[in-house]
Amino acid sequence: MTFGNKLRFFLNGTSVEIDNPDPDTTLLNYVRSVGLTGTKLGCAEGGCGACTIMISSYDNTLDKISHISVNACLTPLCSVDGKHIITIEGIGNVKNPHPIQERLALLHGSQCGFCTPGFVMSLYSLIRNNPNPSEEEAEECFDGNLCRCTGYRPILDAAKTFANNTNVTNGLSENHEPQENVGCGKTDCCKLNNIDTTFNHNFSQINFKKYDATQELIFPPSLMKYTPEPLHFHSSKIKWFRPVNLDQLLSLKAEYPNATLVSGNTRIGIVTKFENIKHDVQIYVGDIPELKSWEFKEDGLSLGANMTISQVQDVLKEACNHYKPHQIQIFEALSEILKRFASNQIRNTSTLAGNIIANSSTSDLIPLLLSSKSIFSLTSLQSTLKKSRPIPSVSFWTGFNQDCLESSEILETIFIPCSNHDQYVRAYKQSKRHYGARAIVNAALSVSLDHNSHVQEAFFAFGGMSGAVIRAPNAENFIAGKKWGDENVLKQLIQVLCEEFQLSFSVTGGMATYRKTLVVGFITKFWYDVTKSANIAELSPDIENSIGEIKRGVSKGSQTIGRPEKGNKIVGKPISHASAMKQATGEAIYVDDIPRTEGELYGALVTSQKAHAKILNIDPSQALKVPGVKGFFSAKDVPGHNCCSHMTHDQEVFASKEVFHVGQVIGLIVAETKKIAQEARDLVKIEYEELPHILTIDEAIEQNSYFPMTPQLARGDVEKGFEEADYIFEGEVRSGAQEHFYMETNASLVIPKEDDEFEVHSGCQNPAAPQERIADVLGISANKVISRVKRVGGSFGGKESKSLYVSTALAVGAWHLRKPIRCMLDRDEDIIMTGQRHPFLGRWKVGLTKDGKILAYDLKFYLNGGGTTDVTVVVAQIGLLAADGCYYIPNVRFIGYPCKTNIFSNTGFRGFGQPQAVFILESMLYEVAERTGIDVNELREKNLYIEGQKTPYNQTLDNWLLPSVYQQVKEISEFEKRKKEVEEFNSNNKWRKRGLSLLPIKFGVSFPAAFMNQAGALVHIYLDGSVLISHGGVEMGQGLHTKMLQIASEALDVPINTVHLMESATNIVINSSVTAGSTGSDLNGYAVHNACKILTERLKPYREKMPDKSFEEIVKAAYHDRVNLSANGFYKTPDICHNFEKNEGKMYLYYTTGAACSEVEIDTLTGDHTILRTDMCMDLGRSLNYALDVGQIEGGFIQGVGWCTNEQTLHFPNGNLLTTGPDQYKIPGARDIPQDFRIYTYEGAKTNIKSIHSSKGIGEPPLLLGNTVFFAIRDAITAARKCNNNNTPVVLRLPATPERIRIACDDEIVKKCKVEKKDGEVPWVIEP
Ligand SMILES: Cc1cc2nc3c(=O)[nH]c(=O)nc-3n(C[C@H](O)[C@H](O)[C@H](O)COP(=O)(O)OP(=O)(O)OC[C@H]3O[C@@H](n4cnc5c(N)ncnc54)[C@H](O)[C@@H]3O)c2cc1C
Ligand code: FES
Ligand code: FES
Repeated sequence: MTFGNKLRFFLNGTSVEIDNPDPDTTLLNYVRSVGLTGTKLGCAEGGCGACTIMISSYDNTLDKISHISVNACLTPLCSVDGKHIITIEGIGNVKNPHPIQERLALLHGSQCGFCTPGFVMSLYSLIRNNPNPSEEEAEECFDGNLCRCTGYRPILDAAKTFANNTNVTNGLSENHEPQENVGCGKTDCCKLNNIDTTFNHNFSQINFKKYDATQELIFPPSLMKYTPEPLHFHSSKIKWFRPVNLDQLLSLKAEYPNATLVSGNTRIGIVTKFENIKHDVQIYVGDIPELKSWEFKEDGLSLGANMTISQVQDVLKEACNHYKPHQIQIFEALSEILKRFASNQIRNTSTLAGNIIANSSTSDLIPLLLSSKSIFSLTSLQSTLKKSRPIPSVSFWTGFNQDCLESSEILETIFIPCSNHDQYVRAYKQSKRHYGARAIVNAALSVSLDHNSHVQEAFFAFGGMSGAVIRAPNAENFIAGKKWGDENVLKQLIQVLCEEFQLSFSVTGGMATYRKTLVVGFITKFWYDVTKSANIAELSPDIENSIGEIKRGVSKGSQTIGRPEKGNKIVGKPISHASAMKQATGEAIYVDDIPRTEGELYGALVTSQKAHAKILNIDPSQALKVPGVKGFFSAKDVPGHNCCSHMTHDQEVFASKEVFHVGQVIGLIVAETKKIAQEARDLVKIEYEELPHILTIDEAIEQNSYFPMTPQLARGDVEKGFEEADYIFEGEVRSGAQEHFYMETNASLVIPKEDDEFEVHSGCQNPAAPQERIADVLGISANKVISRVKRVGGSFGGKESKSLYVSTALAVGAWHLRKPIRCMLDRDEDIIMTGQRHPFLGRWKVGLTKDGKILAYDLKFYLNGGGTTDVTVVVAQIGLLAADGCYYIPNVRFIGYPCKTNIFSNTGFRGFGQPQAVFILESMLYEVAERTGIDVNELREKNLYIEGQKTPYNQTLDNWLLPSVYQQVKEISEFEKRKKEVEEFNSNNKWRKRGLSLLPIKFGVSFPAAFMNQAGALVHIYLDGSVLISHGGVEMGQGLHTKMLQIASEALDVPINTVHLMESATNIVINSSVTAGSTGSDLNGYAVHNACKILTERLKPYREKMPDKSFEEIVKAAYHDRVNLSANGFYKTPDICHNFEKNEGKMYLYYTTGAACSEVEIDTLTGDHTILRTDMCMDLGRSLNYALDVGQIEGGFIQGVGWCTNEQTLHFPNGNLLTTGPDQYKIPGARDIPQDFRIYTYEGAKTNIKSIHSSKGIGEPPLLLGNTVFFAIRDAITAARKCNNNNTPVVLRLPATPERIRIACDDEIVKKCKVEKKDGEVPWVIEP
């Protein structure tokens, strides 16, 4: 066999040839290295979709071009020979955007923009295959893409403008051909439906480019003639072969028996990166036609082992039509389960064989392959002869990570037999998130019945119950011969299964009780499904209605917004984000996209592996020997002050003597490339002396481990309040952590200049912080450091202080080496190092009158601060200020205990303690309602603040519109009517329950530390009439810069397209406050406005003198008169003067208020849930930009939903983190949003607020309303418990994960499956 050593492919229409490429290079690294930086790195594990690109290939046997979306982070560069790679840059640019890019940008589908190219490419791949997708397909194509900012609704709306769906249920009822000038693109656009828009109106109409599939980049004709040839590439570490037929593969396997076969690389790519497993010889099997072919045989389906999951899905669809109905039970079950297999991108690349050989205990394929008795054909070359042996699936796996494949063998085909008459097969899956997640437990259940409904044969295979997929032989034997449909048999079967699966409390994977309940839940569903399908008995409607999986319809959303103030030209208009088009075309530059300079180096951080330990020795000697390594730096190398926190003094740049948490930075390796730096980093040896560690709040309380300050707030006399109360109740609730999961991880580039000057680019929320810290760390003055922030790919509070971990460490390296150094953290590093939202434990006591008036509320809460102080005490303080929620309580005593533990140092996160405070308060109200029998909303309404009342910190509530905002939501959501409907639904469904929750929130806007409420701006007018504005705020997706452009344009009375904003930088605007606390637009907006007003005043005489002249001419005239055309604006929030000690003075300039009503449905047999509908109304004041504000409302709400439902941080008992990436940590996906999502801005908003243009900060408040989903779930659980005559209050810890929902239903199955903790048993993971 002769091998070529040139890789040939096309990239965005241009031919590329690479001699002997490095087999270790991913397609992502390659495209970024050639300057195509629109494709982003978000996780490197196939879980976020930021790296999505499209690969086109031509199949000459079928004469068909296929287009697939793939995760470039897992695709080996060497695998793309003969293919056409299309990246975001290949489809359009700002000057000529692709219609997808244009619609996503103009319909507000891009905020921080880091995810946007990935979304564009997923949709692009869909419409390249099918220019007229249905709305369902348009939604489903994003199942591998995560967005942390938008809440998905605008992205889905943009995608649906390409849909041609005759079955749409929302908006249009007829064919909706994409056309020009059809309105805003939303299916229910007022322009399409001739809706009168005289009062509230939807977003303005947009003229879209028509989509014309004939204008797409063509498949290169030369590739159609391409004949694949065997290839061989090698580096010093890896040999890569690409055979092009089976014979070649078999002879290579005979020659290299230990070679690893590579197909989709979705398993190998992961173990190589995250488990450091080396594969010296790799044989790529993705281009072997024999392994991709399939055949309908008489008795079943023969599939080539390396068919991708997507190809199998297509074949299964055909098979379901090809075979007789009774033969397709297995194919249908497989089809169903594959819809929930990973994501489009993963299904497009991962293969049958890859999944079978990887042999994961939660494989979605293996249970069905087992229970269908599929047959695998194993093939090898034996003395030049091809030999195959059939192995039944039941004999293939011989144990955990073991199978009977010989080293010379490959898996060639998989034969899946047709089902028999009277065989029933179903597959089930429950995962942490419904879509795009691996199973917690899955099952493939099969029974064959005789004509009397007696079981002839049963086959029960379960994933997730052991280290490998296993059968339940006792249950199979028990059921054989029994009559299906007999309830007593079911009861006994459940008993046998419970005994068969003996999980211990500390079992690997945790969730012992839950996993057992899932086994029983699946069997119960199967039992009734077969009973019905086999016509054994009629099912009662309450059972029949609730045995299927929760299915989601196509989502829809509406946004009813206000109008700009009369007279405003641009302020208030819903214009799209100023960078949206650049973001959608991949042209927007983030830190790691800044072009590399000659001599630039890369930094990798060496971090602690221990939760609490003394550092005995640091030995970098092995690392320093690696070619390309330039240096190692630790505490002893810090020239100035070893402190990387700008707020407290207990966070070292490099730990000097002791580490306080896993992931704490100990040192920095600097090398020529990222790969070398990371390899060398793993060679730095640290010797520790381990010290006892504390992880949880309970351990901290037990050991009295607190940070020094204990903030408190009190009013009235709590004890007296209790004396006067008719009822007194006490309770305890807990909320979990939340990872920020901004899509761009922390990144920095530090460039040393002459004379000890430094320039730092970083993604941080406050440019002044790196400047101040780097100067102090290097021992130089602040005037030598310029800190620049162009844009940040999401932040949410997580880059306020934590971005300094990276920038200060790099500065030390750059100081010594005098070279620029860059670092962008990998996702797992970022999560392990940087801290999260604080978990809370709330202990409350409340006293109230018989008719529900709350007289006293005594609250102690404990928050887990982690290893160093950071902002923990401030979060506690702000939590106290929000602990009253929207209710007047005359006597309160609130105390916050900041716990010091040995998890990562927790930090600010959107809401800053307020979501937790609202959660505790509302939990208390629910519990009180359940105990007193008073309706919870009656309780709320009885205690709602009214105008003129004072908060516990003595702020008078004026302009208090909350009662009417709340009332509005109650009405528009038809709360009372739907409450009855929910009750009716619940009585008609045994295992499905619905819940409804309506609650209000208030959010004070201003920093409690008065000095922070200031901002500066600088505005220049150039002689051509163009305007450059700068301010101290940071653009992180929220649209701050866009609003600033609007304010400047309005104030100067110039067109917005003549105003520009480049970046935030400390040499332009100094001493900025952090962009946080929903104050960004208030502070910076007024500073910009003030600067513009100064300039307007200076130009006034010229405007009056030259009324007919253009702005350019006016400016020129002023210039010639030597008028200063540059102005500095400054603003400090008026009236803010709260004194904590005296508890007097104004704390907040105003409150942003809102209310929401959410309805959910839960599956009580699995714990799964869906949000059916949310109605939300926010009082925005007079919005600066309704579209951007709606974006904050939807995005904030969905982030709150994530915190309340699926986002769960879990640590191992030794302090290491389990949830280090999207595989284990599940933020909401596009199909987790409310199916019906209605947003309203409050139409009665006041105009007399002292903020800029009477607008209100909106970044954080909507997140608090995520609580409505939690409490709707709680309501549904209460209904489930009532069915079992359990009327005790629900104890539900936040987040309400599927596990918690299921367990809280507390029915007979849960009781039967309960796994008790034995003495000395340690849980597998803990929630801190
Ligand atoms: C983000 C993500 C989500 C996922 N979600 C799911 C999920 O929901 N459900 C699920 O079941 N799985 C899931 N997986 C796992 C995934 O399905 C498997 O990783 C995949 O099927 C492996 O296929 P591959 O072609 O990529 O294998 P590769 O990684 O290329 O190879 C895997 C193994 O198979 C061997 N192999 C490949 N072809 C052959 C052959 N012909 N003969 C012998 N050996 C061969 C390789 O040598 C290697 O040992 C997920 C993975 C990722 C990354
Ligand atoms: S970076 Fe590839 S999927 Fe996240
Ligand atoms: S816009 Fe999607 S992650 Fe920021």
